[in-house]
Amino acid sequence: MDFNLIVLPGDGVGPEVVDEAVKVLKAIGKRYGHNFNLNIRLVGGAAIDAEGTAVSKETLELCKKADAVLLGAVGGPKWDDPLAKVRPEDGLLEMRKSLGLFANLRPVKVFPMLVDSTNLKPEVIRGVDFIFVRELTGGLYFGKPKKRWQTEKGRMAVDSMLYSDKEIERIVRVGFELARHRQKKLISVDKANVLESSRLWRQVAIEVAKDYPDVTLEHMLVDACSMRIIQNPKYLDTLVTENTFGDILTDEASMLAGSMGMLPSASLAGVPQAGIKIFGLYEPIHGSAPRRAGQNLANPIATIMSTAMMLRYSFALEKEAKAVEKAIDDVLNEGYRTYDIMSEGKTRVGTREMGDIIAGKAGE
Ligand code: IPM
Ligand code: MG
Repeated sequence: MDFNLIVLPGDGVGPEVVDEAVKVLKAIGKRYGHNFNLNIRLVGGAAIDAEGTAVSKETLELCKKADAVLLGAVGGPKWDDPLAKVRPEDGLLEMRKSLGLFANLRPVKVFPMLVDSTNLKPEVIRGVDFIFVRELTGGLYFGKPKKRWQTEKGRMAVDSMLYSDKEIERIVRVGFELARHRQKKLISVDKANVLESSRLWRQVAIEVAKDYPDVTLEHMLVDACSMRIIQNPKYLDTLVTENTFGDILTDEASMLAGSMGMLPSASLAGVPQAGIKIFGLYEPIHGSAPRRAGQNLANPIATIMSTAMMLRYSFALEKEAKAVEKAIDDVLNEGYRTYDIMSEGKTRVGTREMGDIIAGKAGE
């Protein structure tokens, strides 16, 4: 089959990790007879420097026509001026909104061979395997009013945690669909004891639950959830939450896996269902790590895992997705480690070597 892919390497280590993911994709294409047509474009700081904007209209239009987008990372000290008119992150937010990428999937899986490379006790994190569904185009990030103004008493600012029942319904459905194929347990995270938007969220979640009698719905307050992630993460399976809560909780959750370099993400424009192709943007959850850039250091596994998610959700190629995941498993089992997950007795490799070994196995 033929697939059209926009590749946005971005800034910092982005280009390095994306190169390795592309290697793996090519190996899969060769093995299974698919053609992945790649169109490489700029995003973030790289786009600000070359095109004057964090993502150009042209790039957005090309993304709209493609089957999927693969992104590295955006940002860096060069573009960090708080007074700057345009920031690398604007490119990401603009893409999420204008491409309708409302569902952000962030799986957190602790690999058994990496339990010793985290800050938590091995017995707490061994076997952890859950997925966060984060709403990505609403809430405080985009709600209006969003502004600053001057009053007689001083400066004021407001952001709005705004949600419609439709927005809540479609994201909660994503949670139920995923939960249905996992442990059939969905946790909806909110702050219904204080926030009106959370009370609507909870009400809609209860309404949608009627369509999923096979899934148990539990409500969890966001503060309690942040505690549970550390205290007993094995309790968690599928979670759904609004944009800002999801942003914060997923950074926290990423620490369970030992390194941000191990966590992929998918941002989808629809509800994932087996056999159906959904447009999506795929990126590692780590940032651009400017201090590590250009040194063949960065861990490409998060980006390669994101590519597996792309094969699954945007190309409906489940077998190929599993082949990539198995290649990663095998390579870790054989003891290969980038610096961020290195431990005694293992074989330290760089970004390119890690990519080569995984691509070799994925293509076998
Ligand atoms: C993330 C990031 C982004 C967000 C930033 C870079 C705008 O933290 O994807 O979690 O806040 O959503
Ligand atoms: Mg974040």
